[in-house]
This record gives sequence, structure tokens and C-alpha cells, in this order.
Amino acid sequence: MSITKETELIGMKKASEAVAYTLKKMRDYAQPGMTTKQLDDYGAKILSDFGARSAPYLTYGFPGWTCISVNNEFCHGIPSDKRILKEGELINIDVSAELDGFWADNGGSFVLGKDINRHQQLVDASKQILHKAIFNIKGGVRISDIGYLIETEAKKRGYKVIKNLTGHGVGRSLHEEPGEIANYRDRLNLTRFKKNAVVAIETFISTTSTYAMTLNDGWTMVGNKGGLMAQHEHTIVVTDGEPIILTEMNGVWN
Ligand code: CO
Ligand code: CO
Repeated sequence: MSITKETELIGMKKASEAVAYTLKKMRDYAQPGMTTKQLDDYGAKILSDFGARSAPYLTYGFPGWTCISVNNEFCHGIPSDKRILKEGELINIDVSAELDGFWADNGGSFVLGKDINRHQQLVDASKQILHKAIFNIKGGVRISDIGYLIETEAKKRGYKVIKNLTGHGVGRSLHEEPGEIANYRDRLNLTRFKKNAVVAIETFISTTSTYAMTLNDGWTMVGNKGGLMAQHEHTIVVTDGEPIILTEMNGVWN
């Protein structure tokens, strides 16, 4: 969506605060021995206390309130009472929701407890790259130039990017125009970021794969060549200068 009046900015701030706070609380709550279903139930309670509803459930009928993906799962992992979290696992939580007609989206990968499997470097790379990408976005910047920046920064650190997962416009629904904010230079995409546009910017930084494929459960995505992926995502408003980071409260950069 494009912000045209103050009430829309207020609405987007409220929806973004709900998803950002939920993501932060879920990250803090996650413990070894807990199931991903327990973690999702905890997030669902926080979202519903805000009066917010799960965006993937409303939009796609996703079987959970939030997406929780562990280790080789890249994204859209289904919360399960059979999946018990372990020390040192790479976890991704993505929280998106609708509140009073406004939709916001954010996510982040983290290492659970001690980094015994050495995933922190990948997580840090993704965080840093998201930061750099966001602070290079303003009205008039080509979407493909931000894609190029993300891919270049990933390569510099010895990583790859996933080509078929992208950031997107957000605001009046979960996914809207611009439909694809890729993590590489998409030469066919001549679109530019527009001032006042609300967009979800997300990284998809991977160790070995360049494509994500859906498993037989119909939701969970893994890499075409295996390995791990880290994702960090903020919902922002594009301006003439530094963007307004609506989901800043999620603390993914802390
Ligand atoms: Co998103
Ligand atoms: Co998301």
C-alpha cells in the first residue's frame, strides 16, 4: 500500500507493533525441550491479545499462527507437537498478521542457546545485509539494485541467495505490489521503490542452495541443494531519506 494519510500510518504502526512484539517475545521464550507447537501457541496468544489475526492462516489457510522453521527447513515450517527444539539449532520465526485491516510482516533467524553448531556467522551475515539493504532504499531506487546489493554482500561473505523467495509490498493484504523484491539483480524488473510505499524487505542468505522447494506437506520449504538459510525481515515505509522501520521493535538487529 501507499501511505496517503495519517490514519493509515497509525494503522500500519499498530499492526507492525503487534507482529514485532510477538516475534521478539517468541524468540525470548524459545527454549531447548519445547515443541514448535508450544512456541506457536505462545505467539498466537500474544497476537490475539493485540486483536491481530495470523496472516498466513487468513491468506493461505496455513496450519498455524506463525511459521517456525528449524535447521534445514528454510521457511513456512508448520508448528508441530512432535518437533522438539534442541540447543544450538538454527530457528526461523516469521510472524505476519492483520490488525484492523492493516497487514504487517516480520521475521528472523537465530541460534537457540549456545552456538554449538556454528550457525551464528550465517545469522549475523543475514542481519547485516538486511540493515545495509534497508538503509539504501529510498524513493526512486531500483528494486533490482537492492537485489544486487544483497547478492553482492552475500557473496562477499561466502554465501548464496535464494532466487525464488522475495520481499514484497504489504499493508492492505499480506502480499501486494511490488510483488517481488528479489535478493539478486533481476534485470527484467525495472520497477523503482516509491515514496510512501509500505514494503516488507527480507533476506534469504544460504550456505549452498539457490532455490527453495516445497516438501510433500505442502508448506515447508527446503533448499534444492540442502544446507541452511537465514532470513531477517522488516516492514518499512519508503521515504525520500531513511525508511521508517515499522517493525523495529522486533530487535532483530540487537
Ligand atoms: Co514477507
Ligand atoms: Co514474513
